[in-house]
Amino acid sequence: MTVTIHDLAQWRARGQKFAMVTAYDALTARIVDDAGIPVILVGDSVANVMLGYPTTVQVTMDEMLHHARAVARGAREALLVGDMPFGSYQASTEDAIRNASAFLRVGMHCVKLEGGGPSVDVVRALAERGIPVMGHLGLTPQSVNALGGYKVQGRGDAGDRLLADAHALADAGAFSLVLECVPAELGRRVTDEVGTPTIGIGAGPHTDGQVLVLQDLLGLTPGPAPRFVKRYADLASKMSEALQRFAKEVAEGAYPTDAESYR
Ligand code: KIV
Repeated sequence: MTVTIHDLAQWRARGQKFAMVTAYDALTARIVDDAGIPVILVGDSVANVMLGYPTTVQVTMDEMLHHARAVARGAREALLVGDMPFGSYQASTEDAIRNASAFLRVGMHCVKLEGGGPSVDVVRALAERGIPVMGHLGLTPQSVNALGGYKVQGRGDAGDRLLADAHALADAGAFSLVLECVPAELGRRVTDEVGTPTIGIGAGPHTDGQVLVLQDLLGLTPGPAPRFVKRYADLASKMSEALQRFAKEVAEGAYPTDAESYR
């Protein structure tokens, strides 16, 4: 049965923690869905993880829709979240409604957008029109140029401001909140004090759900990972090993054999 936004509230109510994972294509969406992950995020992290852009700021609405369509074709039961890219909701609520609608038309069940402040009115406009919205506070990568880098957010007084933003987003109708790179204690405060399901990434163990980028948790992304990432596999070295064996067998004439040939 397809997961809905109401399931998240029910899981929170009964203290059942849940996972969200990113997917950007049909193949991995099917694997993630079949593994029983209930929420799939077509994240704008596709920009740096898959498309080679330096940040998420560069990815366009057309590119996001291309990936969202693929994920919708591959997934079967998960709640599908389309990540509104930079520039798709900042200029006007009309832009936001048009672009969020485009995500729903290609098979997403809801959208996610970053920030408090001016984003609160956008969330309200979408929610009032029947478009479920997931908020995103803390380290909001689309604002990397304003934040001055990928740093922990919400320390000291900034924690109170983030908590106020979380209340405002929830009041505006956000059905859940991603909290990225904030102290664990702030993750706990927002989760305890705001009624909406929280999903943490680098926000400690107290949030209702946890999200990771698929390629990070599978050990596919190169270089050192942020502190919050746990590598559940080392697929990059497995892939490299398989590719080297293939190239070697081709060079040696050991592949293909009769078994891989047609008569
Ligand atoms: O785009 C993304 O992958 C995200 C998660 C990090 C929450 O927004």
